[in-house]
Amino acid sequence: MKKILILFAHPTFHKSRINKQLINAVENMEGVTINNLYENYPDFFINVKKEQDLLIGHDIIIWHHPFYWYSAPAILKEWMDLVLGLGFAYGAEGKALEGKMVFSAISTGGKKEVYCKEGQNQFTINQFLIPFNQSANLCGMTYLPPFVVHGSHNISEKEIENFGDMYHNLIEMLRDEKVDFSKLKLKEYSNNLFE
Ligand SMILES: Cc1cc2nc3c(=O)[nH]c(=O)nc-3n(C[C@H](O)[C@H](O)[C@H](O)COP(=O)(O)O)c2cc1C
Repeated sequence: MKKILILFAHPTFHKSRINKQLINAVENMEGVTINNLYENYPDFFINVKKEQDLLIGHDIIIWHHPFYWYSAPAILKEWMDLVLGLGFAYGAEGKALEGKMVFSAISTGGKKEVYCKEGQNQFTINQFLIPFNQSANLCGMTYLPPFVVHGSHNISEKEIENFGDMYHNLIEMLRDEKVDFSKLKLKEYSNNLFE
């Protein structure tokens, strides 16, 4: 059984619709740890040693957040800057994360069709996520396709529920080693595994 760490960053979680459902769907799952960064570090003083120990103790890491300004809310960048340090995550001596898996789980206000060359946002989600992808590569981690919920402002209660179930199933399959990675790697999004 794989151990999964969800690094969750949402500065206004009390107002959340979609991410509240996603988090509800995976909390209390055996083998899954939810690390709520804004709750744990309201002053942004991240406990680097504690965060590094958490990473060491898990096999699969998820950067879970609403998409903000085509990236992550600020605390996740702070977390990356401090926790993924030289000699721990990268560099000649930095091998702590090698072989672990990582991916993003995000919700966007924009619909899928605006995230393409011809669309309003010009680039795909996977293009916007390149800094996460390459950070994972630098740390010797395997980067998996993101889990994405688009159009979060206009999504129905039923759709939100379905995305919650999908996120739960994905995490359960990853935890129980039931994912065919040769198939998953070819998908644009991890969600597409369920099509
Ligand atoms: C500061 C801020 C920046 C945002 N930037 C983007 C963005 O770049 N692209 C996008 O599609 N949606 C953007 N949104 C919309 C959020 O992604 C959306 O509100 C969120 O996914 C809703 O999730 P929730 O129901 O859990 O709060 C932004 C929202 C805020 C508040």
